[in-house]
Amino acid sequence: MRIVIVRDYEELSREAARKVKTRLAARPDLKLGLCAGSTPEGLYKELVRLHRDEGLSFKRVQTFNLVEYLGMGPGDPNSLGFFISENLLRRLDIPETNRHVLDGRAENPEKHCRWYEDLIIKAGGIDLQLLGIGRVGHIGFNEPGSSLASRTRIKKLDEQTIQDNSRFFPPGRTAPERGITLGVGTILESEEILLLASSANKAEIVSKAIEGPVTNQVTASILQLHPKVTVILDEAAASCLERKEYYKYAEEQRRRKGE
Ligand code: GLP
Repeated sequence: MRIVIVRDYEELSREAARKVKTRLAARPDLKLGLCAGSTPEGLYKELVRLHRDEGLSFKRVQTFNLVEYLGMGPGDPNSLGFFISENLLRRLDIPETNRHVLDGRAENPEKHCRWYEDLIIKAGGIDLQLLGIGRVGHIGFNEPGSSLASRTRIKKLDEQTIQDNSRFFPPGRTAPERGITLGVGTILESEEILLLASSANKAEIVSKAIEGPVTNQVTASILQLHPKVTVILDEAAASCLERKEYYKYAEEQRRRKGE
């Protein structure tokens, strides 16, 4: 795991965008896994800026959304697909046929999940998967107790997750209780993973995910077993890490060597 600790959210977003840009330069037909939530908003803004001001092209990129609420189609303004489209996809030059989305209103959701898995395989797999981390330690909607070998499926959301998601919903509209998510096993098959976490309310769970045991009670901890993971944290999110100084030192060394 490469742990990169930066000063604040702005720096985190720029650093993450740099990483995507580098991968894109090496592989213009990048298969990019997209997450939802507040954390990637700054990254998405920066990617849009790079596209608009610096001509960074996404023409050959294929994207795969990580999650959706069960019962919501990507056209629903409260859906996660809509969020990703509004904040990123519709502002880039990615052809619509290259944007793959989970549809929470699919007639047969189980079949839809299997179809989505096949789609990823047919595309040759995800090259770079972007992830946030929930306060329960989830990646995607893989709540505590998820199988660490799970595939794309419907998942009952944790109370904490439902509560955290409710901030995105207008008063009177409750956050969904179930979601569709790429499985832990599916995520682990990505060639490379970039996990972002910002702010003090993630500090404790981040330390469990990075420094704690690998457990299905914190599904992000399984990333310790993946060969190519970068975690970008701001100081606040890194504040509970025991080996914080070591990570900073190691990163400094890598930078000196131009890695
Ligand atoms: C949501 C999403 C995750 C996201 C996480 C954290 O439930 N399913 O993809 O990473 O919670 O969200 P935020 O970045 O808003 O803290």
